[in-house]
Amino acid sequence: MRVLFVCLGNICRSPTAEGVLRQQLQAAGLSERVEVDSCGIGAWHVGKAPDPRAHEAAMRRGVNLSSLRARQLAADDFRRFDYLLAMDRANLAALHEQRPAQCPAHVGLFLDFAGHVEREVPDPYYGGEQGFEEVLDLIDAASRGLIEEIRQRLEVRRP
Ligand code: 4NP
Repeated sequence: MRVLFVCLGNICRSPTAEGVLRQQLQAAGLSERVEVDSCGIGAWHVGKAPDPRAHEAAMRRGVNLSSLRARQLAADDFRRFDYLLAMDRANLAALHEQRPAQCPAHVGLFLDFAGHVEREVPDPYYGGEQGFEEVLDLIDAASRGLIEEIRQRLEVRRP
């Protein structure tokens, strides 16, 4: 099973989601069965490490993002991943624009797995530290929901 998180710059929200889901998969004993990656719609930050504010906020919860580097969404991602999960509706619209015909992957909003009223992870880039905490809270809840779904799909697949 392969999961790709998508935001605008791939330096704040989607690398945070990558780190948090990885940690939760590890705790759930599923890290061998699920591959996680993240990317950005835009190319401005390609090759850069996550925003230091995102890294520090994640570190306060025991999640280390320092090895991650930004990359841009590629056409091949629609073939490689089972889930392409957007942080907000603008990211989702960009995914739908680039999605090839007959792409079997699940392309949707990440927060649909959170069971919250919020549907979007707000862009924290131009805000303060509190925005990064809110991003983590939303991502934490959605990751738990996603793991439940993945667990069920893996169990169904098992002979
Ligand atoms: P992200 O945040 O999409 O969560 O990585 C942003 C990072 C950079 C920019 C916008 C959003 N930017 O405009 O450079």
